[in-house]
Amino acid sequence: MLSRLLAWVRPIVYLSNNPISLIGVVLVTAASVSWFAWLPTLWSGAIGNPYMGILLFMALPGAFFFGLALIPLGIWFRRKRADMPATFPPLDLKSTEFRRLIFFVGVTTIVNLIIAGQLSYGAVNYMDSVEFCGQTCHTVMTPEFTAYQNSPHSRVECVKCHIGPGAGWFVRSKLSGVGQVIAVALNNYPRPIPTPVHNLRPARETCETCHWPQKFSGERLRVISNYADDQANTLTKTVLMMHIGGGAGLTPGIHGVHLGTGVTMRYLPADESRQTIPIVERTTGGQTTRFVAADAKPEALKAANDPSKWRAMDCMDCHNRPSHAYQMPERAMNLALAAGEIPASVPWVKKHGLEVLKASYSSRDDASSRLPAVFAKIYRDRHPDVYAAKKAEIETAAKGILAVYRRNVFPEMKVQWGGYPNNLGHTDFPGCFRCHDDNHAAASGNKISQDCNACHGLLAMDEASPKVLADLGMGPGK
Ligand code: HEC
Ligand code: HEC
Ligand code: HEC
Ligand code: HEC
Ligand code: HEC
Repeated sequence: MLSRLLAWVRPIVYLSNNPISLIGVVLVTAASVSWFAWLPTLWSGAIGNPYMGILLFMALPGAFFFGLALIPLGIWFRRKRADMPATFPPLDLKSTEFRRLIFFVGVTTIVNLIIAGQLSYGAVNYMDSVEFCGQTCHTVMTPEFTAYQNSPHSRVECVKCHIGPGAGWFVRSKLSGVGQVIAVALNNYPRPIPTPVHNLRPARETCETCHWPQKFSGERLRVISNYADDQANTLTKTVLMMHIGGGAGLTPGIHGVHLGTGVTMRYLPADESRQTIPIVERTTGGQTTRFVAADAKPEALKAANDPSKWRAMDCMDCHNRPSHAYQMPERAMNLALAAGEIPASVPWVKKHGLEVLKASYSSRDDASSRLPAVFAKIYRDRHPDVYAAKKAEIETAAKGILAVYRRNVFPEMKVQWGGYPNNLGHTDFPGCFRCHDDNHAAASGNKISQDCNACHGLLAMDEASPKVLADLGMGPGK
């Protein structure tokens, strides 16, 4: 029996002892070894990393089957050569050919054990890294990567929000990823990258891995500095007490009203960027209230019958820029002045800063070479005395203003001021007032509130030294 089997295997062993088949053997063993190494993780279902899915379900089988195909291919080539012996050498350890084959397979298997494990682990880690996502396709991701670095999430990896835990979502993101890579290669990707992102995972599955509604603080004090465009860059402050809400026993607040336990909300956007919202529905305790905008178009009302047109409200409908927040020029200047990045001691710095920020530059490099010079020229021409007295500070200011520009404007990607609306607030973009506009009414006549104290206590508005800050021990200098 055994001898018959050996006789059958003999020609295969002999024939497969050729470079192509041996490469095939290496690939097959490497793939199998790696696969076995990951098997326990696979079985436990704890594939925390979506890219591991690509490796396990796509790369490994790819290598495996490619290697498998190489083995007969090599045999076929070898057979074509006319050096086929009439009888095949016996399969025993005395045969050098057979010994060599066994030695080769043995050594490569051990080497594979070491290399394949390391390689797959390294590759998975790399694909998860911020460097891979943010910097591989340079120009394309520059705006998002730059804004990200200046955000509260600059230590959170891209994949934590964009893919999240579990193997299921990697397929979707990878399928769209293939299209994106092709678009970058062909240089026909959209500029700017369109928003909102349609295949983004529902926010509650990603954001809530770190922030969960029970944990939000009840109230949060916000102090917003505003510099006027006068000679002294006069500073005033707005003080808001944000009714964040959440947490057991706390008032529902902003989070509880929209996403609290037992509450679901959905809305019908009328445009691609979800900036116009004619209809909103809020369901709680089995009761659904529909709010309709007084100026809703008849088409919008008709679209309400198509369930696919609705969007379930989640974190992203308010926090659509948690990590890629581009600012408007006024706000960006205010923040840089408050942070001391731009010295407020330079007369008219707010006014002239805005002037050069809003000018048009063909690229970021163009701005780097021209903006500081244009800024200095304004002072030389219009305020020669200031220029003479404060040359160094003006230079520092120019640097700060350029940094503001480079954080927010990316002509190469056609990302200009205000290109990406931020829905958190209502002063720069419609934001909350897309629904809270005192224009969306339910059948009962009840309207979605625009009461100035519904979302925040308005403790001070553009005051030079708000009393509330003094009461809290935050003196005028703060
Ligand atoms: C805190 C979560 C979070 C992190 C971290 C994050 N993003 Fe995003 N990103 C988002 C959200 C939310 C959107 C969707 C905005 C929308 O739909 O309006 C988005 C949108 C994008 C877009 C589409 C264009 C745009 O600006 O809307 C790109 C590209 C992008 N992110 C790339 C990245 C890269 C690269 C990284 C890592 C350097 C990263 N993101 C990290 C949450 C995140
Ligand atoms: C991997 C963990 C992680 C994920 C996922 C995550 N965040 Fe955060 N988030 C953080 C950390 C860390 C901070 C910074 C806290 C701080 O600065 O005190 C933060 C801060 C915030 C803040 C407060 C910003 C501020 O102005 O102080 C908001 C709002 C926020 N995240 C929203 C989101 C949203 C929306 C998502 C989902 C798109 C999300 N986060 C996903 C970790 C995460
Ligand atoms: C209806 C709009 C809205 C929705 C929906 C929403 N938020 Fe918020 N969130 C806000 C506002 C407004 C603030 C206060 C911002 C400020 O302080 O300026 C806030 C604050 C936060 C903060 C900072 C809290 C703190 O204590 O400083 C976090 C974190 C946060 N939200 C996460 C989330 C997450 C996660 C979700 C989804 C489960 C979510 N938010 C859904 C409007 C919303
Ligand atoms: C998609 C529409 C929509 C958006 C956008 C939206 N809301 Fe609301 N909001 C509602 C609806 C609907 C209600 C419930 C109104 C009712 O039942 O009377 C509500 C109620 C509230 C309430 C309770 C008001 C009260 O009088 O008790 C607060 C606070 C609130 N929203 C804050 C915000 C904030 C802050 C934002 C922006 C960051 C925001 N909302 C954005 C639809 C929206
Ligand atoms: C639906 C909720 C909501 C209502 C109603 C509302 N606000 Fe606000 N308001 C916000 C949010 C959210 C912010 C942004 C806080 C932040 O910057 O994170 C904000 C910010 C502001 C700011 C600071 C603007 C800045 O420079 O950053 C002022 C001032 C303000 N609101 C005034 C008002 C006034 C006046 C009313 C009444 C007409 C009003 N708000 C009604 C939610 C609301």
